[in-house]
Amino acid sequence: MTYYKRSNCRRKKGFDRVLVCQRIVSAIVTMFLLVLFSKLGAVESFDRELAIEINYTCAGCHGEYGQGVADGTYPRLAGMDADYLARQLRLFKSRKRLNIPMFPYAIDRDLPEEDVVAISQFLSSIELLAKLPPIDDKTYDPLKRLKLAKQVFSVPRYSGDVKTGKFFYNKECANCHGRDGLGKRKKKTVVPRLAGQHSLYLLRQIEIIGKGLRLHDEAGDAAVFKSYSKTEIANVLAYLSVLDDE
Ligand code: HEC
Ligand code: HEC
Repeated sequence: MTYYKRSNCRRKKGFDRVLVCQRIVSAIVTMFLLVLFSKLGAVESFDRELAIEINYTCAGCHGEYGQGVADGTYPRLAGMDADYLARQLRLFKSRKRLNIPMFPYAIDRDLPEEDVVAISQFLSSIELLAKLPPIDDKTYDPLKRLKLAKQVFSVPRYSGDVKTGKFFYNKECANCHGRDGLGKRKKKTVVPRLAGQHSLYLLRQIEIIGKGLRLHDEAGDAAVFKSYSKTEIANVLAYLSVLDDE
């Protein structure tokens, strides 16, 4: 692509000037379209076909859309930060985070680094819906609607005091996990979203962290988590369970 200075437009006369200006305009339009397509996801930075293949294994526990299971056995993975997901997979592989059900899958032969990146980006790109969109008679397709229904997910209201939980969350957790509970990227770490995650999975993690079996942000956090009462934790989970209702 030839680069024309803007002043060329002014200096040249007649047809020449129109031609040069047209080229500049077409170059700008091309660049704009490229940026637009990459934003729309038309240009993907990961191997989607490879990821779909890997996901057959993961889906057995985490669900076809990475939606997890309501009883908290298997966490939701859809829409979580790709770097957070990849970090957890690496922690499972190095056994720094213990996950017995995933032992056979989180080994280098079955999940090499290339796969870790692809599956993490793929799961991160899945958007779960808070509710089904209204039916449009013109585009109604029962099969598509059935597929869409599988992607609808909202954490059921957890039993506890939402107001007190909000106060506690904003004081103790929001600084890292975000006011909206959607997580944050910090200098060295990626803090995961808690809103939209199954309450019973979160409860289990809070307990595991309190027992010192999983590292939270820093080693000293185990004692902090252990000091929270059952009621405080229930209230915070109640607040988190309503954060994804919009
Ligand atoms: C046999 C069941 C099973 C399979 C198959 C499985 N997982 Fe898991 N996974 C689990 C369980 C159980 C946990 C929760 C562990 C815990 O409670 O600490 C988990 C947790 C995770 C987490 C941590 C989520 C978080 O919020 O920290 C990630 C990431 C993950 N799995 C990714 C995957 C991927 C990717 C695959 C496919 C390659 C996969 N899992 C296959 C059972 C499974
Ligand atoms: C100083 C920052 C910080 C604060 C404050 C903080 N967290 Fe975290 N939290 C993190 C980081 C970082 C991780 C991810 C750790 C990792 O990568 O394994 C995390 C992970 C978690 C997880 C595991 C999520 C998952 O998907 O497995 C839970 C649950 C959690 N935090 C709950 C809380 C609660 C509840 C509070 C408030 C009482 C809180 N955190 C306060 C930084 C923080």
